[in-house]
This record gives sequence, C-alpha cells and structure tokens, in this order.
Amino acid sequence: MSKTFKIGIIGCGGIAHGKHMPALKNQPNAEMVAFCDIVEERAREAADKFGVPGARVYTDYRELLKEESIEVVHVCTPNDSHADISIAAMEAGKHVMCEKPMAKTAADARRMRDAAKRTGRKLSIGYQNRFRADSQYLKKICSEGELGEIYYAKAHAIRRRAVPTWGVFLDEEKQGGGPLIDIGTHALDLTLWMMDNYEPKVVLGTAFHKLSQRQNAANAWGPWDPAKFTVEDSAFGMIVMKNGATIMLESSWALNTLSTGEARTTLCGTEGGADMQDGLRINGEKHSRLFMNQIQLDAKGVDFYDGRKESPADLEAREWLRAIEQDTDPVVTPEQACVVSEILEAIYESAKTGKAVYFD
Ligand SMILES: NC(=O)c1ccc[n+]([C@@H]2O[C@H](COP(=O)([O-])OP(=O)(O)OC[C@H]3O[C@@H](n4cnc5c(N)ncnc54)[C@H](O)[C@@H]3O)[C@@H](O)[C@H]2O)c1
Repeated sequence: MSKTFKIGIIGCGGIAHGKHMPALKNQPNAEMVAFCDIVEERAREAADKFGVPGARVYTDYRELLKEESIEVVHVCTPNDSHADISIAAMEAGKHVMCEKPMAKTAADARRMRDAAKRTGRKLSIGYQNRFRADSQYLKKICSEGELGEIYYAKAHAIRRRAVPTWGVFLDEEKQGGGPLIDIGTHALDLTLWMMDNYEPKVVLGTAFHKLSQRQNAANAWGPWDPAKFTVEDSAFGMIVMKNGATIMLESSWALNTLSTGEARTTLCGTEGGADMQDGLRINGEKHSRLFMNQIQLDAKGVDFYDGRKESPADLEAREWLRAIEQDTDPVVTPEQACVVSEILEAIYESAKTGKAVYFD
C-alpha cells in the first residue's frame, strides 16, 4: 500500500484551481493539509474546497514551510517568486513541484537546479503537456528512434487574440516576459523532450510590441489595458543545437494569422516526421511512396481502449508522487527545465541586442 503524502499549496490562484488542487484531490495518496496565499481569503477558500478537515491557512509561505509533517509543496505563484519559494522549500526538506516556467531568469533557474542537487530533494516543473496522450505516444516513437535523427523542429505557441488579462501576466517585472515565457515555454519543453537534445549552441531571437498598445482590442478574455501591457505580444527564435539540429520557436498571444495552436511540436527526422497540427500525424516514405498516419488516440474498442481516462493534470500529479515514493527522477527534471529557461532568456537577450547569443 502506498504512503500518503501531506502537501502544502503555495499560491492559490488560477493554475492552483485549474490544475494542481483538483489533480491532487484525485490522488488517493495525497492530502492537501496547508494552503498559503498573500490574499488570505484565497488560501481559505482553497482550504475549504480541497483541504483535509482542519487544513491550515497561511499568508506567509515561510510559516507553512515550518510544518514538519509537510513533505511536498506545490509552488503556484507568479514567475518572480518561483526560485525563492522553491529553494526555501527544498532547504526546509520538502520536495517541490513548481509551476512553469521554472523561474523568471536563467540564473534563478540554475539556483533552483543547484538547490535540488545540494538538498537531495526532488524538484519538478509543471509542464503538463508532456502528459497528454499525443505527447506520450510521440515520445515513445521518438525514444524508439522511429523518426531517426531529428534535425529540424518547430515549437508552436500561437494565439490570434488570447492575451491573459488576469493576475500579473502583462507585468514584465513579475513574469519576466510575455507569450514566450508563458506559452512558448511549453512548446519548447515538448520539442526538446521529443528530441532529447539539451545542448543549445546559438540562439537568435526577435520580440514585438506591435499589438499590445491597441485600445479595446478583440480578446478572448476581454480587452487588455495597454498601459499595463509591458511584455512583448509576440516573440520568435531560431535555436541551433550543438549537433546542428535547428528549432524554430514561435510564440504569440496576439497575431494576425489563421494558423494557430499552442503547446505543439513539429519534428522532422531522417526516418520520418511528426506533427500535432491536426491530431498526431506521422509522415514518411515507405515502398517508394510517401505516407501519413493519423494516430487514433481516442479509438475505443475491446482491443485498443485501455479503459483509463486520466487527464494530463492527473497523470502529472500521479507520476510526480510516484517519482518521490520510488525515488526516481521526475518526468520533468530540473536540468531539462533549466535549459528551457536558458534558451528563453537567450531569445529575449538576442531580441534586445540584435545579436546572436552563443552558449559555452
Ligand atoms: N502549467 C500551465 O499551463 C500554467 C497555466 C497558467 C499559469 N501557469 C503558471 O502558474 C503561475 C501562477 O499563474 P496563475 O495563472 O495561477 O496566476 P494567478 O495570479 O491566478 O495566481 C497566483 C496566486 O499566487 C498568489 N501569490 C503571489 N505571490 C505570492 C507569495 N509570495 N506567496 C503566496 N502566494 C502568492 C497570488 O495572490 C495569486 O493568488 C505562473 O508562474 C504561471 O506561469 C501555468
């Protein structure tokens, strides 16, 4: 019988409600015993809805970390506090699941990675798109070498008009950037994971503030306030890896295009290709003809359907707790997430200076 983990939630806003707390509630071996938010009623509401009877409420995360019985902490605060809170938690002996991106800056991401090593605590980052059925299937294909050497890829994170207007997403100071660090990060994480290539050589990037100053813009979450929109509205990058493999990364919250889609990857290898443009499609050449296979991820039937209906969020939570219990690497390792943050920062830097950024 598996043990029960006592878990503390730090930051009880959108993603805590949208992913972490419901997913943990679905795990038979998880108990949410403490909730912290700088806005007390948010922590209290979360405790009432998701906590065990008698769950504690805090407004200062340092107080929550003093609770010895808490073994695992989920950090769901804005980007600028990921590093300090996660490091303090690991130093207090807790395993940490932190929201994406790993941190606001690459230096902070490296501090987190190093703290995990130093303390021996587990650290993972909330890249739940890896747990989607199409991603899991594609990862198997890539791991078995079916695409051969992947030498070209695209990381897609494009919205026509879906600028997040709640919280602090538009605030450069709190988030460190806009769509690149918010949704570009998911697409890049997926792409690097599929390629299993974490060695960037050089990065060239551009960032735009072209639509952010529009008044009364059409937007999925209502018009944004141009005065508060201090981050880019679009950013693009070209990443060349040490082995020459090349990734084009495109990210936008607002772009005049009909070609949208986020948290997707397109892979081109010597033996075949794959994309997530219209479901998961594998393409290649066989018997002197080209082929395209659509993977039927939702096929139901006695022979195919495995009977499980687990959401990516639930699977992420289950695998996270399993990694702690069995003392294995989490699916998303700190080393991998740190490289994602380093590449994102290089794109921002290149966009500012107009120069390519070289990695050692
Ligand atoms: N995995 C995903 O797909 C996904 C989706 C959305 C957001 N996120 C990430 O989740 C994080 C939070 O985003 P959100 O949409 O939930 O924002 P949010 O503004 O809705 O929630 C953040 C909460 O953290 C609280 N908070 C801020 N500083 C705090 C501190 N020092 N201690 C305790 N609480 C604090 C705020 O009061 C707020 O309630 C961000 O890093 C974001 O990038 C991830």
